[in-house]
Amino acid sequence: MKCVKVPLRQLNDTRIKLMEKGIMSMEYRIKACDDYGYIPITEDIEDYEIDDIELEPMKKVPHNFSELLEDELNSEEIENLRTSFDTIGDVVILEIPEDLQDKKQLIGDAALKFTKRKSIYMKKSAIKGTTRVRDLEFLAGTDNSITIHKEHGARLKLDVKEVYFSPRLATERKRVMESVKDGEKILDMFCGIGPFPIVIARNKNVDITAVDINEEAIKYLDENIKLNKLKGNINTYCGDVREVSKSFNLKFDRIIMNLPGLAYTFLDVAFNLIEDGGIINYYEFSDSYDQGINRLKNTCEKLGKDIEIINTRKVKSTSPGEWHVAIDAKIN
Ligand SMILES: C[S@@+](CC[C@H](N)C(=O)[O-])C[C@H]1O[C@@H](n2cnc3c(N)ncnc32)[C@H](O)[C@@H]1O
Repeated sequence: MKCVKVPLRQLNDTRIKLMEKGIMSMEYRIKACDDYGYIPITEDIEDYEIDDIELEPMKKVPHNFSELLEDELNSEEIENLRTSFDTIGDVVILEIPEDLQDKKQLIGDAALKFTKRKSIYMKKSAIKGTTRVRDLEFLAGTDNSITIHKEHGARLKLDVKEVYFSPRLATERKRVMESVKDGEKILDMFCGIGPFPIVIARNKNVDITAVDINEEAIKYLDENIKLNKLKGNINTYCGDVREVSKSFNLKFDRIIMNLPGLAYTFLDVAFNLIEDGGIINYYEFSDSYDQGINRLKNTCEKLGKDIEIINTRKVKSTSPGEWHVAIDAKIN
């Protein structure tokens, strides 16, 4: 290895000069021998004695997830893995494609090391069934699927194996919270562990009715109500919102309908419970806004109501060309 040879007392100054010039090699260790130091260089330099000697290569310490896996996976595979990370409190959920399944343990260990979270799981199925939960396989760390996730200052306790929760909706929840006015009566028809109600009630003095069919979700929402300092009030109900809502003898200024695949089948329930001039925060999976807007308009027409679409946006991408879309509508 080509080296600059200097007396030991000049070693440090020379090392700094060579580093500043960008010609010191980081791949090999500096060697000290018989009152001389040998600094590896990547190109020739005048004014120094150059010697060719054998040096010990540096041990490569990976600094991030990509570096740890770069010998095993190509850069595209690493990038795809990286964008598939969902971090929920101390839990990381990874999506590992079929062709990388034989490397799942290696990937899980790398994720544990570099995310510094406690438990790494891999998606084993799509989100499915009425409760919108997916199967998970434990990969690395501690096998504990119960965690507390922090979002906009709210503390949200949940079991990632038992309930639906997506950290990717955080911006959407903040946006809805910011549009809420103090004093609103709100119904969250499909509340899960209550991220919408908790984020809203932490910030606004409102009255929220929160419904979910998943007993576990309501159990965690009841805990989350106690875990957070709330300005507003939240009442929880467990059951099918179509049935449970029959006992509600009030109308709501806002109704949140975040069950994107099926929300349209509950539009009649929502329209019967909305106050005149109230807002519906409606969600769908779609490649455009038209389908959702038409469904809202058609239901309004059937029930003899007027509708004004006040906002539309893409919340997140779900698959190529398909989006989780949000439509805000005012009903008169
Ligand atoms: C997509 S998740 C949304 C949860 C929550 N809003 C969030 O943002 O995290 C939909 C929720 O609807 C609940 N659900 C499904 N069908 C329901 C029904 N008929 N009545 C009430 N809740 C229902 C599921 O249990 C699930 O927790």
